[in-house]
Amino acid sequence: MCDNVKLAADGMSVRILDQTRLPNDEVYLDLTTAEACFDAIARLAVRGAPAIGIFAAAAFAMLAKRAPMGTGEEFRTHMQQTADYLNASRPTAVNLSWALRRMMGVLDAHAGEGRPAIEAALVAEARAVQDEDVRTCERMAELGLTLIEDGWGLITHCNAGPLATSAYGTALGPMLLGHERGMNFHVYADETRPLLQGARLTSYELDRAGVDVTLICDNMASIVMKQGWVQACFVGCDRVAANGDAANKIGTSGLAIIARHYGVPFYVMCPSSTLDLDCATGDDIPIELRDPDEIKTMFYERPMAPESVACYNPAFDVTDHELITAIVTERGILRPPFTESIEALFA
Ligand code: MRU
Repeated sequence: MCDNVKLAADGMSVRILDQTRLPNDEVYLDLTTAEACFDAIARLAVRGAPAIGIFAAAAFAMLAKRAPMGTGEEFRTHMQQTADYLNASRPTAVNLSWALRRMMGVLDAHAGEGRPAIEAALVAEARAVQDEDVRTCERMAELGLTLIEDGWGLITHCNAGPLATSAYGTALGPMLLGHERGMNFHVYADETRPLLQGARLTSYELDRAGVDVTLICDNMASIVMKQGWVQACFVGCDRVAANGDAANKIGTSGLAIIARHYGVPFYVMCPSSTLDLDCATGDDIPIELRDPDEIKTMFYERPMAPESVACYNPAFDVTDHELITAIVTERGILRPPFTESIEALFA
C-alpha cells in the first residue's frame, strides 16, 4: 500500500505525504484540524481523485473523534457542517463528495448507538474505503494490462499513479503491474503544466519502479505520436459523466484529439467511485479554476509574464466520449456506446 494517506492507529490524526514537495523532499504532515485538511486538498498536498476520497474519509473519521461533546443531534449537525466544509475544498473530483456522503451514511446508520460506537464505525469505514481502493487498483491494472502488449510505447498525462490512490494507481497500474511481470514498456510522461504532476510525480514514480520513462513537455505529445512511438494512451479521471465524457487534468482532451488524429487508442482508467450518474454530460461537471500565479510565478525565480497580464487557469478539461476508446473500471472494460455500458454497470 502507498503511504500517501494514513489514518493514525488511534484515529486522532491523518498523516499525508506532502506531494507539493516531491520529488525533492519526502515530507510527512500530521493533520488534526478541519482547516489543515481543507488546506491539504486545496493546495494539492494530497491530490488525485481516489486519494482525495480516501483522505476525506480518513479526515472525517479523525474529525469525528475530535468533535465537541454534545447531543446526538448536535454531533450530526457538526459533522454535516464538517463534510460540507471539506467538500468545498475542490470541485471537480467526485470522489470527494462520494467519500463524505458515504461517511455521513455510516454516521446516520449508527445514530443512537453513542459516540464511541459511531466513532469506531467511522474509523472502520475510512479504513474500508482505503482497502477497497487497493483492490480496485489491482483489478483495474489487470484489466488494463489486457489492452497492451510487451514492448509498446505508452503515453500518460498528469499523475494517476500510486500517489493518487492507495496502490498501483489507475493509469499507471497496467504499466507497473506489467513491469512487475517482466514486460517492457516505454512510457512518455507529459510534464503537465502548470503544476507539473507528470514531471514531479509520474516520472518519479515510474523511474523509482524501474519502468523506462521519458519526460516530455505537454506540447510534444504530437511529435511523439507522429513518429509512431506510442501505441496507447492511458489517463486517469476526476469525474466521468453518464454519457462517458471524462474530466481529467487540463490538457487531457488535447491529448485525446491528437491520439484520434494518429489512430492511437485512448483509454480512461476510472474506478466506479469516479462515475457520476448525476452528471448527464461533461457540461454538468464543475471545472476548478486556480490561481493565475501557478502559471506566471510558481516555479520560477522571477515572474514569467507581466503582472498585469490576465491568466486563465482551469485545472481540468473534459474529453468528449467520442474520443475515448474504452473506459476501464474495476468491474469491467466499458466500450461505446458509453451511455449504455455505464448504465449496465449500475443495473
Ligand atoms: O489536480 P490533480 O493533481 O488532483 O489532478 C489529478 C488528475 O487529474 C488525475 O489524473 C486524476 O485525479 C486521476 S488520479 C487516479
